[in-house]
Amino acid sequence: MQNQEVYDTVTAKFSEVFGSKADAVAYAPGRIEVLGNHTDYNEGYVFSAAIDKGTFFAASLADDDSVTLVALDVGETFTCRLSEVAPIKEGMTWANYPLGTFNWLMEGSPAKANKGFKAVFGGNVPLGAGLSSSAALEMATALALQKLYGTSFDKTTLAKIGQKAEHTFAGCPCGLLDQASSMYGAEGALVKSDFRTNEFETVAMGPSVAFMMVKSNAKHALVDGAYASRRQACEDAAKYFAGVLRKNVTHLRDVTMAEWVLYRGGLPETTAKRAVHPIGEDERVLQGAQLLEKGDLKGFGALMYDSHESSRNWFENSCEELDAIVDAAKAIPEVYGARLSGGGFGGSCCLLVEPAYADKIAEQISREYKARFNDEPVCSLIKPSKGAYLI
Ligand code: GLA
Repeated sequence: MQNQEVYDTVTAKFSEVFGSKADAVAYAPGRIEVLGNHTDYNEGYVFSAAIDKGTFFAASLADDDSVTLVALDVGETFTCRLSEVAPIKEGMTWANYPLGTFNWLMEGSPAKANKGFKAVFGGNVPLGAGLSSSAALEMATALALQKLYGTSFDKTTLAKIGQKAEHTFAGCPCGLLDQASSMYGAEGALVKSDFRTNEFETVAMGPSVAFMMVKSNAKHALVDGAYASRRQACEDAAKYFAGVLRKNVTHLRDVTMAEWVLYRGGLPETTAKRAVHPIGEDERVLQGAQLLEKGDLKGFGALMYDSHESSRNWFENSCEELDAIVDAAKAIPEVYGARLSGGGFGGSCCLLVEPAYADKIAEQISREYKARFNDEPVCSLIKPSKGAYLI
């Protein structure tokens, strides 16, 4: 479904269910991660982009203290009282994203809001593809509810509110990348984020390049512990480096590759392997920024391939399906670079491609993937697009 159609469906459903027009409607997109993997919670750098698919959230205040959430995509309705807003452990766990966002927009005291709200939401971000459908829902919720409740948080604070919803309601200890990309995305541009200073810069991409997302059908679920264990290893490594390096180290952002080489011997083997990934990724993003400035897409693409190798060998957050997609991409001259995008362990690969050859590229990758896994990947050309907004 195209965005306009999703908007029409969501707003029509709101009027049908609640008998009046919604007072606030917001849109927030999903994102692709282009370079810089698992660097956000290490206070590092990332290149990402908002995509042209997202979530629409239509809402009005309720007359009483009830909260009603209609999820169009799954055809379910969740209700509770303001005093009952809390993480959902079983059943309609999708409600954790809007509920958690509302909870933290109200600074952790939803019962203090005089009135509840009623909402309908729906979107077109493919689920489980590593395109951050959950961040899209959180950011659309945040913008619409901010209007209804008259709060005035800036974009970064709203992104952090969504992240807190992930941590405390959905149970995923993610960084800020997904929410920030959804908020700060811009048409035809990459977002270059610095997660130490929380500065988000847009870098224009010429029309001669595009991204192709290739969705494997491998499982992608960040809540099941693999993501958390990677994050823990990075934090353990940062503590170790803080002890051995004669400088201030709070996160892996502070450790250079040369320091890792010299001091890795004091770390357990697995922790050392995990740590080198974000350290290398930070260097690649900074190098990539210089290459983009010079218009060197080949050079930038080579860094994307390096990024995937680092995931494959050191961080071990790739899988057979993602490796097969990247290996197939390497044989196609019109693909500049390819790597897994997002948390990993399944989901999608992000390819930097010449858009004129999109069909050929999709066909070749699908053919090879099918021969190997007897299954079709989903290939979609992605246009970097504008970030979240209130309609
Ligand atoms: C997921 C998380 C992000 C980030 C990426 C990996 O998308 O939600 O915060 O850590 O994985 O770069």
